[in-house]
Amino acid sequence: MAPAAIDKKIEALREKIRHHEYRYYVLDDPEISDAEFDKLINELKKIEAEHPDWITPDSPTQRVGGKAREGFVKARHSSPMLSLDNAYSEEELRDWERRVHELSGRNDVEYMCELKLDGMSLALHYSGAHLERGITRGDGNVGEDVTSNVRTVRSIPLSIAKEKLKKAGIPEDFETRGEMLMPIAAFRKLNEDRAQHGLATFANPRNFTAGTVRQLEPSITAQRRLDYFPYMLLKDGRTYFDRHSKTMDALEAAGFKVNPHRKLAKNLDEVWKFIHDWEEKREALPYEIDGIVIKVDRTGLQRELGFTGKAPRWAIAYKYAARGGVTLIEDIVPQVGRTGKLTPVAWLKPVPIGGTTVSRATLHNMDEIERLGVRIGDWVEVERGGDVIPKVVKVVNDKDHPRGHRQFLMPEHCPICKGNVVRTPGEADHRCVNANCPAKLQGTILHFASRHVMNIDGLGDALVSQLSESGLVKNVADLYRLTKDDLLKLERIGDKSAQNVLDEIATSKKAPLERVIYGLGIRFVGERTAQFLAEHFGSLDAIMKASAEELQEVNEVGPRIAESISEFFSDEHNRQLVNDLRKAGLTLTGQKKEKGTKLAGKTFVLTGTLANFSRDEAKKLIEDAGGRVSGSVSKKTDYVVAGADAGSKLDKARELGVAVIGEDEMQVLVGSRRSAS
Ligand code: IVH
Repeated sequence: MAPAAIDKKIEALREKIRHHEYRYYVLDDPEISDAEFDKLINELKKIEAEHPDWITPDSPTQRVGGKAREGFVKARHSSPMLSLDNAYSEEELRDWERRVHELSGRNDVEYMCELKLDGMSLALHYSGAHLERGITRGDGNVGEDVTSNVRTVRSIPLSIAKEKLKKAGIPEDFETRGEMLMPIAAFRKLNEDRAQHGLATFANPRNFTAGTVRQLEPSITAQRRLDYFPYMLLKDGRTYFDRHSKTMDALEAAGFKVNPHRKLAKNLDEVWKFIHDWEEKREALPYEIDGIVIKVDRTGLQRELGFTGKAPRWAIAYKYAARGGVTLIEDIVPQVGRTGKLTPVAWLKPVPIGGTTVSRATLHNMDEIERLGVRIGDWVEVERGGDVIPKVVKVVNDKDHPRGHRQFLMPEHCPICKGNVVRTPGEADHRCVNANCPAKLQGTILHFASRHVMNIDGLGDALVSQLSESGLVKNVADLYRLTKDDLLKLERIGDKSAQNVLDEIATSKKAPLERVIYGLGIRFVGERTAQFLAEHFGSLDAIMKASAEELQEVNEVGPRIAESISEFFSDEHNRQLVNDLRKAGLTLTGQKKEKGTKLAGKTFVLTGTLANFSRDEAKKLIEDAGGRVSGSVSKKTDYVVAGADAGSKLDKARELGVAVIGEDEMQVLVGSRRSAS
């Protein structure tokens, strides 16, 4: 094909993909299936692989391009990113309106009402209709350049067709400000996955969003669903349209995900109605909001009204009251979650809060109980946020509310299965370590069946919950005993899909040892650690017999992971499970990998961007040669491998006199490349 023809074909394909990204991520209304979408992406990838010169930064394949970094570069805002003053009552809101009327000398002010999205604010700069930069709010004047992470958010256009911008009345160089957030469903799922893998969880979607936007690896950001809702459009740091409502319409016309729940109100009564309506409706939103933002619609008026210190006079945030009440803790009962975590739950004297009766509230963990100093029999203040389970906020103690006397202690055995309950030193959570615990069962089966583990297709949420609730599957080994008759007794499963699932289960027996290890769901043992364990020991039996010291000889296994593995296999139920899996015919042995000894006893630190290896690849190379890779430079470090843009670790190495080498020398040391001399 002639170059011009290829160019045209690629661009047409990209436009098609952009259109479907828009349908899916902006409108939530896809026109094609995920598989069809993947097909288009793969087609584009294939053409781009054949013609790398034709790859452009705004191609849909280039969302995840950036490499891992050690930190973010600071960036100054075009004009300060301000916050808002708050109003907590109708009276405060009417006071605000009075000031607007007085200062503007008019009584016919129109207001735009918008949801106050509970995420983090972010500025996007477009230049020549291309996304150029994404900057966090920071201190309002200077934020951090998080462009490579922002690019992974699929509701943010990487480029916008110039005709489209023109039609929307937006110049090619402009800035949006808006809110980045994580939908509640994504938050729950990601948090659960983290808990499953022994990682710290996030308290709310806002914190998870902030953590994700500031991720040093864009590929991780890309795996988490974030959304961006713009609510400002600036040109050279100044508002562009003469009405805020026009700004919102224009951003929408340009293809941004503008929040549809907005209203132009003619007066404060209409504003109040909007506030009132959303107080209840907000429960059904897929993301969290903490109030309503009210903005004077005319930009000219906004300029007249100006600012006070840090907030504009032309806007205000009406904050919904945290719904709370005072009640008595009748008991504290540990509840076992899907990941085996024991959450102390306060059983309350039922109290009406925000239209519902609350009789349970979470106390999170023992640290929280100690922080609050709460005892059974205490009177407490309870709060209910948008979607979250009610929580105990503080102990109330006055003449009408005497203190309780009974201390709550975590049980040593799981209230559901009597398995051992363990609190890992340095952690807040207590957990049941029995893999067969019914409370953990569904989570354990889903993990076991998932794509990166035993890859049993067809074993989804609905089927797993039926299998566990019917008692057909009490642990993952039971999966291998299922018959077609068993499956046909369940709801919504036909002969063909029953057979498919059974075939998938049978095929999974061939999965290699590392997958089985990963599938057991041992805390802190992720995919990589499972691989290292398999390579080091060569069989599950050897791992079970290994002492904590022996386990620590494995790459990346420290005292915490070793202890978790020992704990897991010291539980009788778990040993029985392994026997059952053996009887079912799973692969419990593998190929032991002989490690190199060339770099035995040598510690390396990697810093900066290497030209030929990712961090993980370089790490593996060193570890395979018997070396160790550490995260920080100390006197004990033997070599610092420095790539491009190396930062503070390089300075530290120089300060301590540690040998600094490049990646070529690293390859020579590990023996994968001959020395030049
Ligand atoms: S306008 C100068 N509109 O609330 C006014 N802010 O407390 C700039 N927020 O930092 C803000 N939803 O992160 C505006 N529809 C909305 C908003 C919104 C959420 C956040 C924003 C801001 C904070 C102010």
